[in-house]
Amino acid sequence: MTLRVAIIGAGPCGMAQLRAFQSARDKGVVIPELVCYEKQQDWGGMWNYTWRTGLDENGEPVHGSMYRYLWSNGPKECLEFADYTFEEHFGRPIGSYPPREVLWDYIKGRVEKAGVRDYIRFNHVVRQVSFDEDTQRFTVSAHDYTRDITSSEEFDFVINACGHFSTPKVPHFQGFEQFAGRILHAHDFREALEFKDKDLLIVGSSYSAEDIGSQCYKYGARSITSCYRSAPMGYQWPSNWEEKPLLHRLENNRAWFIDGTSKHIDAVILCTGYKHHFPFLPDELNLKTDNRLWPRNLYKGVFWEANPRLIYLGMQDQWYSFNMFDAQAWYARDVILGRIALPSHADMLADSQQWYEQEQLLETNQQMFEYQGAYIQQLVNATDYPDFDIPAVNETFLHWKHDKAADIMGYRDKSYRSLMTGTQSPPHHTPWLQALDDSMAAYLGEPASSIKSVG
Ligand SMILES: Cc1cc2nc3c(=O)[nH]c(=O)nc-3n(C[C@H](O)[C@H](O)[C@H](O)COP(=O)(O)OP(=O)(O)OC[C@H]3O[C@@H](n4cnc5c(N)ncnc54)[C@H](O)[C@@H]3O)c2cc1C
Ligand SMILES: NC(=O)c1ccc[n+]([C@@H]2O[C@H](COP(=O)([O-])OP(=O)(O)OC[C@H]3O[C@@H](n4cnc5c(N)ncnc54)[C@H](OP(=O)(O)O)[C@@H]3O)[C@@H](O)[C@H]2O)c1
Repeated sequence: MTLRVAIIGAGPCGMAQLRAFQSARDKGVVIPELVCYEKQQDWGGMWNYTWRTGLDENGEPVHGSMYRYLWSNGPKECLEFADYTFEEHFGRPIGSYPPREVLWDYIKGRVEKAGVRDYIRFNHVVRQVSFDEDTQRFTVSAHDYTRDITSSEEFDFVINACGHFSTPKVPHFQGFEQFAGRILHAHDFREALEFKDKDLLIVGSSYSAEDIGSQCYKYGARSITSCYRSAPMGYQWPSNWEEKPLLHRLENNRAWFIDGTSKHIDAVILCTGYKHHFPFLPDELNLKTDNRLWPRNLYKGVFWEANPRLIYLGMQDQWYSFNMFDAQAWYARDVILGRIALPSHADMLADSQQWYEQEQLLETNQQMFEYQGAYIQQLVNATDYPDFDIPAVNETFLHWKHDKAADIMGYRDKSYRSLMTGTQSPPHHTPWLQALDDSMAAYLGEPASSIKSVG
């Protein structure tokens, strides 16, 4: 009987899984029957921008957390696919920090070429997954919003590729109830111009805090105050951006911090991260973890140890992204195809424990991306995914970190060499701070078209 595989989500991870199977099929391998459920109308996951917030057109929680004017926050050379380069897609070298639409176009290009769209059931939300010990099969129930019906099918493997940056962590601070301005989570942030000429408070000190603050600075916020729980970001911020220790309370339009200082504010953006949240999975199959490099209970970072027929892709905190998803997808494919045998349960736990213990020892950023690089390398070594120069990617991450430390508003003007083709990226035609139009046409076009009024 042909194996049946369900893939939940057609974001970068689900697309990587489809591409992995198609590449085996092209080499003459008989592949399982694939069904990819995608709750949105199109593929690309987070990169498929939506203006919506709250509930979507079907009454489902909006998946997207990306916002207008979002540019890659790391060099594209660190996420490039080993089997489909930027140069192949765009026909020429492009800059190192493309905006969202350019990256969306790139990831779509590979799967369009692969011809895997027909495996996807769009506008289908997975509602429930259960496993039958007797038959060793999963039942997946999904709602098809196009026909407005729920139906169930059986599968031998389930691949959860539904991402983990969509369900916000929303802390409460004293005085929120009485505050007259906007309080929103980063998940609901869409348009920096909303905060033009405003005094903005940002809670959090990670990528969303850094980038949403930078967007608002770029598009004309009067001032930015960011506050941290554990440690400041510590960059050389522009003169109207101040870092404070954590918020203590709001009193009308005044924010008080735990060091006793205060500031006037007009709006609050909670950049406080996301939950791994899979309401369609029963407890015994549900990954519960914070955002970390080694989520527990996943052999090779992907196989649910208690039942390795359930596979999770992309659940790690991400230094590496697209090419890590590929490495995972190719490995998962080869286990499903029977090309790689999983070890005993005890051996899986022992292997995972070793990675977990190593993770506990990591202190510096460099150690963290090298750790993730080593993790990817052993996956790549086991499959026919094209080997790529992971030490050189780590070097590029290191340059990126130094560039950010030197100039947080200017690091996106740097460019790097592709580790796949060896081609040096050209500098982008317009400095990031002046590039107000983030469309693909402006990015790939001439400088004049990328500067327009935002008044
Ligand atoms: C604001 C923001 C900016 C980012 N910027 C970068 C960046 O610059 N560079 C980078 O490398 N990474 C970035 N990331 C990380 C980004 O999440 C990954 O690049 C990538 O999108 C993860 O892919 P994924 O497939 O795991 O998840 P997602 O992209 O989230 O895709 C998951 C898919 O699953 C679908 N889905 C979810 N639940 C269901 C369900 N129940 N039924 C059916 N379908 C479902 C969703 O609709 C979605 O299409 C950013 C993330 C955020 C939040
Ligand atoms: N392309 C881009 O430019 C871009 C932009 C935004 C986001 N992203 C991506 O999106 C992903 C998520 O990033 P993220 O910054 O949203 O999440 P994150 O990296 O998980 O960081 C969460 C932040 O929230 C803080 N926090 C959590 N709970 C808090 C509380 N109760 N009070 C105060 N602070 C609290 C954390 O502080 P502690 O340190 O104390 O835990 C941390 O600073 C990343 O992969 C990132 O790369 C990319």
